[in-house]
Amino acid sequence: MILDRVKPLDAILATAQKKSLHRSLGAIQLMLFGIGCIIGTGIFVLTAAGAQKAGPGLMLAFVIAGAVCIVAALCYAEIAAMIPVAGSAYTYSYATMGEFLAWTVGWALILEYAIAASAVSVGWSGYFTGTILNEFMGIYLPQWLSAGPLALGGAEGGFINLPALVIALLVTWLLMIGTSESAKVNAVLVAIKVTALTAFIGLTLTSAYFDPDQFNPFLPAGVFGGFGTGVGAVGAAATIFFAYVGFDAVSTAAEETKNPQRNVPIGLVGSLLFCTVFYILVAAGAIGTIGGQPIMGPNGIPFPAGSEELARQCALPAYSSALVCSDEALAHVLRQIGFSGIGNMLGIAAFLALPSVILVLLFAQTRIFFVMSRDGLLPEGLSKVHPKWKTPYVVTAITGVIVAVAAAFFPVGQLADIANAGTLYAFLMVAVAVMLLRKTDPDRKRDFRTPALWLVGPATILGCAFLFLNLPFEAMLVLPIWTAIGLVIYFVYSRGNSHLGRGIVEVVDDVAGEETMIPIHPDKPRD
Ligand code: ALA
Repeated sequence: MILDRVKPLDAILATAQKKSLHRSLGAIQLMLFGIGCIIGTGIFVLTAAGAQKAGPGLMLAFVIAGAVCIVAALCYAEIAAMIPVAGSAYTYSYATMGEFLAWTVGWALILEYAIAASAVSVGWSGYFTGTILNEFMGIYLPQWLSAGPLALGGAEGGFINLPALVIALLVTWLLMIGTSESAKVNAVLVAIKVTALTAFIGLTLTSAYFDPDQFNPFLPAGVFGGFGTGVGAVGAAATIFFAYVGFDAVSTAAEETKNPQRNVPIGLVGSLLFCTVFYILVAAGAIGTIGGQPIMGPNGIPFPAGSEELARQCALPAYSSALVCSDEALAHVLRQIGFSGIGNMLGIAAFLALPSVILVLLFAQTRIFFVMSRDGLLPEGLSKVHPKWKTPYVVTAITGVIVAVAAAFFPVGQLADIANAGTLYAFLMVAVAVMLLRKTDPDRKRDFRTPALWLVGPATILGCAFLFLNLPFEAMLVLPIWTAIGLVIYFVYSRGNSHLGRGIVEVVDDVAGEETMIPIHPDKPRD
């Protein structure tokens, strides 16, 4: 049977008990951790793509995407507090739905973490090129060195995005030598990002340029632009969903949280609510001052964000200062309304803070690969730990090179859409896993119980499926193609090499942790 290899929950939990980390995190620390992972390229850069899809309806898009993330977060909170070990959605699926589906989740998480890291690298490149090189150093990087050539369904007109490639490799190197972000550094970066966004909101909403007429028409592309079109408020929600990705990292800290029943949901939902309010105000400030109407194609539908047609329109003098054409949307708005200096400061804030988002995403990716390789589903050589650095350097290097190459050649909006496709699948499976566990293991202790699970769970599943169907068609298509590649690897390699399949449950939660070998079905022949 294909779905019969379920990793026993008790074996997984043995690790957590063994580790028994000190419970030291409170609600505020968790919220800071969450905000540190969440605020990044989504708001600093994709605001432009979101406006191109929905116009002022971008504000509604932030509400829709935020609502889906909040119900997903409530599901994450229950399962993360219950199975507080590495591997996130992959591990939860292994314990509930078995190895095969867990593999598909782990495989989709590559899109969530690795491709998202590429997207943030490209977003960083926009601010580095615009603010640091152009504004401060007077250096104008030619287009062929600052944008990638590849785009699904359109070209961006460059050859290689060199800054994005370099930052991705630099962060990879930092991770390889064992850099991790301390709580203090995270708090400082959160303060920088929140200060930058607060200044943006304050200056734009009180600016003389602010004109309520800019919000008319509010929904130039409608609420629902049609499945696969990626336009309208829901299409924009599917893209700027990216601005919320990363909150699930909070769930990995459940084991170290004091009073998790109270603090894990406050940390997850609190950081999401905080960001949702900020994002809506930022969108209001940007659109209310310089306007955010999409550039419409001849058929009255917005040109696809990141497309060649849109790039051509943006090159016309009429659109040279349009929000939807900017690579560094928020700094651009401030410059347009007479705050060039503060716009540059905001550019520096993005320049400083975005690499930490890349670091968190890459770190999460390497740990997922690490756990999958220790489960035997990926070659064990990948999980080799460096004797001096104490990091899984092989898998980190491979991941980093893939991330850097994707960042070098694809535009940010399409990378974000592809990352969203994988993330939405993982979130959906987490909701299924929580509901399954309530049925199959109702008496197990739960430090946090999702309120109204039988409403919140289905709402997560429907919300994720709905957003997925509203991604641009090309991004949607990546998930089944990626899954098909994953399945070939599963049946050719992983299924035969799986430790569980060979009768061993090996539970290693941590790179530096000790191994727990629990033989199961010792007489079962290898299949
Ligand atoms: N949410 C993160 C960002 O917007 C991934 O960059």
